[in-house]
Amino acid sequence: MPSYSSATPFASVYHAPVMIDEILDQLDRLATKSTSAAPLARIIDLTCGGGGHSEAFLTYLRAQNLNHVEVIGVDRDSDSKEEASQRLKDFPNFHHCLKNFGDLTPDDLGGPVDFVLGDLGVSSHQIDDPSRGFRYGGNVKGGVAGPLDMRMDGNNGLSAADIVNDYPEEALLKILVDHGGEKYMSAKRIVAEIVRSRPMTRTDELTAAIERVTPKWSKSSPRKGALKTKARVFQAIRVAVNDEMGSLNRLFENVLPSIVREGGVCCILTYQSDEDAIVKAAFKSHHEVDGKIRVVKDREIGRDLYGNKVGPGKKVWDILNKGKKASEDEMKKNNRARSARLRVAERILS
Ligand SMILES: C[S@@+](CC[C@H](N)C(=O)[O-])C[C@H]1O[C@@H](n2cnc3c(N)ncnc32)[C@H](O)[C@@H]1O
Repeated sequence: MPSYSSATPFASVYHAPVMIDEILDQLDRLATKSTSAAPLARIIDLTCGGGGHSEAFLTYLRAQNLNHVEVIGVDRDSDSKEEASQRLKDFPNFHHCLKNFGDLTPDDLGGPVDFVLGDLGVSSHQIDDPSRGFRYGGNVKGGVAGPLDMRMDGNNGLSAADIVNDYPEEALLKILVDHGGEKYMSAKRIVAEIVRSRPMTRTDELTAAIERVTPKWSKSSPRKGALKTKARVFQAIRVAVNDEMGSLNRLFENVLPSIVREGGVCCILTYQSDEDAIVKAAFKSHHEVDGKIRVVKDREIGRDLYGNKVGPGKKVWDILNKGKKASEDEMKKNNRARSARLRVAERILS
C-alpha cells in the first residue's frame, strides 16, 4: 500500500499531489490578472502522473467558468497516459501528451502557455509497483523484489541493471555522490561491494549489497542507517537511469523560454538538492544572450550611471517565490511533502 494518507486533496491510489493550495493560489492570481488582450488559454502540467494536479486545475477552471482553458498533461510514462486519461475523461479540455518534458516543442502544445507546473521525480505508483524496479524494500519484511529496471519510459535507454553491472567504479561513485548525496567514503564502500557482487539483475541483490557494508542503524545519525542509505542509492541510480538532470536542463534552456508567454507563470516542485539547484539557478540567472539561454554570473553584471543593472542579454525570469515549504499539516498527512520546495517565477515582459 502507498505510504501516504488519502486525507490530502485530489489524492488517489496512484499518487497524492503536493502543495495543491499554494499552486492553485498562483493560478488564481494569474487568472485574476488576465485580460481580453492576454486571456488565460493554456495550462501545462509537465509531470502529469496520476493527474492529481491536473484535476485540481480542471476543477478550479470549471468552478470559474473557464472551461475554454486547455490543460495539457505531459508525462514520459505510458501508465500516466492511461491513468490520467481515464480519470479526467469528463473534462473535454484535458489532453495527454506522452513525451519527455525536455523534448517538448511549441508544436506539441498548440500555442503559447500561460501557466506551467513541474512536480519533479517519481510517482507513488511507480515506486509501489515492484515490476518497475524503483523500490528498495526488496528484502525488508513484507517487501517485494523486482527487476533492476527503473526506466520511467518503458524499454527506452539504459536500465538500472546496465548501469550497476557495466559502469566503471569511478562513474558509479560520482552517481552516488552527485545524485544521492552519499558521503564519499560511504559511497566508495558501497560501490566496491556492488562491483564485487556483479552481475545483479534484481532489486533485492542491490539492497543486499548495500546492507552488507552499511550498519542497520546508527547511534550518531539516522542518515548512516541502512534504510536511509538504500533510499539514497536507489534515488541516485534512478536519476542516472532517467537522465533526470539532463531533461531538467533541457527544459529550462530549450523548452520553457519558447513555450511560456511573457507574463506567464512557472511553478516547479523539487524534492532533492541537485534538482532544486538547477531550478534555483535558472530562475535567478538565466538570460537570453545572442538567441541562447545561459546562466549569467553576477560578475558579468555591471551598473549604469543611474545604478541600474546592465549585463549581457535579457533576463528570462522574475522570481515570485524562493522555495516555499509545505504546511506542517500537509507534512503530517503526506510524508513526501516533507522534502518538497515550491519555486515560482514569471516570464519577464520585454
Ligand atoms: C511526482 S510525479 C507527478 C505526480 C502528479 N503531479 C500527480 O498529481 O499525480 C512525477 C511524474 O513525472 C514524470 N516525469 C519525470 N520526469 C519526466 C520527464 N523528464 N518528462 C516527462 N515526465 C516526467 C514521472 O513519470 C512521474 O509520473
